[in-house]
Amino acid sequence: MKKRIGILTSGGDCPGLNAAIRGVARAAYTMFDADIIGIRGGYLGLIEGDFQEMNRSQFSNILTMGGTILGTSRTPFRDMRVVGEDQVDKVEQMKNNYAKMGLDCLVTLGGNGTHKTANMLSMEGLNIIGLPKTIDNDIYGTDFTFGFHTAVEIATDVIDRVHTTAASHSRVMVIELMGNKTGWLTLYAGIAGGADAILLPELPYDIREVAKVIERRASVGKNFTIIAVAEGAMDVKEAKMKRKQRDVKRAEEGCTNVSIRIAGQLEQMLNVVSRTVIPGHVQRGGTPCAYDRVLSTQFGVHAAQLISNGTYGVTVALKGERIVHNSLSDIAGVAKPVTANHHMVKTAKSMGISLGVAGD
Ligand code: F6P
Repeated sequence: MKKRIGILTSGGDCPGLNAAIRGVARAAYTMFDADIIGIRGGYLGLIEGDFQEMNRSQFSNILTMGGTILGTSRTPFRDMRVVGEDQVDKVEQMKNNYAKMGLDCLVTLGGNGTHKTANMLSMEGLNIIGLPKTIDNDIYGTDFTFGFHTAVEIATDVIDRVHTTAASHSRVMVIELMGNKTGWLTLYAGIAGGADAILLPELPYDIREVAKVIERRASVGKNFTIIAVAEGAMDVKEAKMKRKQRDVKRAEEGCTNVSIRIAGQLEQMLNVVSRTVIPGHVQRGGTPCAYDRVLSTQFGVHAAQLISNGTYGVTVALKGERIVHNSLSDIAGVAKPVTANHHMVKTAKSMGISLGVAGD
């Protein structure tokens, strides 16, 4: 029996999206009679009815390609049920276009926001399968998301390169990595790059503890220090504030970037020269690493199997060595923060890496 599969990518892009799209398409073509409809620009394309019938050749030569051949956009979940000035009921539009395309199911590749909308559409009666992507690795229920390992590779390379210049100039280098509200990327890249301190949003830091790291290293003749800080990190005082309050305070201080604030504070507290490095979207760009190509392909194949069985309302996940699926309603809106007793945090501590927390 023929199945018509819609596919879209939503939210921030990441390496591995095209590998996953290819995985779904090739496995579907192999397993059953499939028509694939590509929806352009994420949920916006579903709302506006921007889609195209894909042919097999469009899934060739995309395994190693960064970004997404379908395009993406951020359409916040909180706005989905809001009817704006244009009077468009977005949810109704998405349901109408799903019907207009004659879809048997819709595969949505995305992060937390994408999964919340996917769950809502599933509740509305559409057949949905999610695939978890993000460099932040913050989707509940999966050990890893695709895109994460590539970002770790890139961030590690940044730390490696900063190491040599830090040593030459006897400087304190503060490297700010992405991750939104979570510290997974910084934790892994920090360990891989041999950072001396790793500062995470989930474990608010005390700047005096960070300063101690530099002093300790200086006392044993080490002339430079590498600090990996997650973009969402905050100090103990800020952690007690509401988000808005914190943003206002930072704006007043003229320091919205955590790395710039830390570098400035350390220069004031100690006799050191400090520089900041913010690689930004470089961490999301370019070709996926081998791990992500494999994971994306495995996720794509699993999605095709689910379609073949008619199992919907789920998202694909990695659990240990196995590819499994979780109910969308169980994972949508649930966070996956780094916890203080996570084994990677323990690994960092066992290596003498400071997390900037008193008593570590
Ligand atoms: O979620 C992925 C991510 O790269 C985060 O790490 C980062 O905070 C955010 O997206 C950046 O978003 P944008 O690309 O919209 O600037």
